[in-house]
Amino acid sequence: MIEIDEAKILSVRNDFPILSRSVYGKPLVYFDNAATTQKPRSVIDAISNYYLNDNANVHRGVHYLSQQATGAFENVRKKMAAFIHAGSASEIIFTRGATESINLVAWSYCESFLNAGDEIIISMLEHHSNIVPWQVACERKGAFIKMIPVTAEGELDIEVFKDLLNERTKMVAVSHISNTLGTINPIAEIVSLAHSKNVPVFIDGAQGLSHGPVDVQKIDCDFYAFSAHKMYGPMGIGGLYGKASWLEKMQPYQLGGEMIEKVTFEKTTYNEIPYKFEAGTPNVADVIGLGAAIDYLEELGWDFITAQEKDLLTYATDKLHTVVGLKILGTTARKASIISFLIEGIHFFDAGTIIDHMGIAIRTGSHCTQPLMDSLKINGTLRASMAFYNTRQEIDKLIETIQRVKNLFE
Ligand SMILES: Cc1ncc(COP(=O)(O)O)c(C=O)c1O
Repeated sequence: MIEIDEAKILSVRNDFPILSRSVYGKPLVYFDNAATTQKPRSVIDAISNYYLNDNANVHRGVHYLSQQATGAFENVRKKMAAFIHAGSASEIIFTRGATESINLVAWSYCESFLNAGDEIIISMLEHHSNIVPWQVACERKGAFIKMIPVTAEGELDIEVFKDLLNERTKMVAVSHISNTLGTINPIAEIVSLAHSKNVPVFIDGAQGLSHGPVDVQKIDCDFYAFSAHKMYGPMGIGGLYGKASWLEKMQPYQLGGEMIEKVTFEKTTYNEIPYKFEAGTPNVADVIGLGAAIDYLEELGWDFITAQEKDLLTYATDKLHTVVGLKILGTTARKASIISFLIEGIHFFDAGTIIDHMGIAIRTGSHCTQPLMDSLKINGTLRASMAFYNTRQEIDKLIETIQRVKNLFE
């Protein structure tokens, strides 16, 4: 049994100003953390402090402010590399988020390494962001998408994956954690199986970095995409870890300033990594905000975060099971604090709307995973996704509200 430190949770909640607001006159209960997490004051302050005191464009400026901004920007790259245990800061590329990171690899890698008749393996539970870029790359090159199916518990069917891997496979792209079912995929095993056939692996880590520590060298993945706004940082910034050996061989994704070494009208040569993949003025302020989010998470510590989220997941699962006619989708034991469910006889949209009017923010719909919904033969679910700042009392409120919704429809 995990010991929950109520005082610590209360003090952590105070770090997040938005958590003390109300909606529809009721205290906000925020259970939409898989869509985006709330931001601690330290992140908000870091961004505003940057614009108030330090704003300047980065790289190659000789003046004081530009050098200071460049130093702060590059420090976050180092911090991010250390946070996910990358071998070098040059393997961290800043992008607008996980979606842009996936597009970058799907374009740049596939441009050089995907040919007609090749195959890319993804899974049935991917977010649209980890489907469409690979699908379009395959259409462009005359290659094919292969799909790892999902078991009744919501796990990837690894036996089918082994059968799908073959000499035509040019990439395996799977998520670390399913944003819909919460399943934590066995990514190290997937990497090891793919590497045994010399196939690189791309991990969509959009949901990975908020729930636990990540060591990209231990996982041995070739690429890992992340989004700051899902890890208590700002929107509009994220990144890509890529092994230098791949990044150096890949085409630049966007073209313009910063990513060049030498430009003449006859020929342009490209900058070294990571700059080869960072065309144009970067989002410096939000990179600084990402740095503050990493500091915040490190100070809080993964032990607290994982213990608190495990407690919430267990508590919420047990309570939801007491509601007659409620079905949880995704029942694997390897699961993050994301719960999708349906209430018998009540459309998820109707239930979600009423729950929202009680001040509880949960998400309804397909969660950008339409192929998964099709495979489950449903149109959508209700999803409660919990973060370390949520409480058991908030879960009790959700359960009470679900009961009220059920009473309304009886
Ligand atoms: C698993 C997964 N992949 C990719 C994304 C896209 O991330 P972003 O919108 O931050 O680019 C999300 C966002 O919900 C996600 O949950």
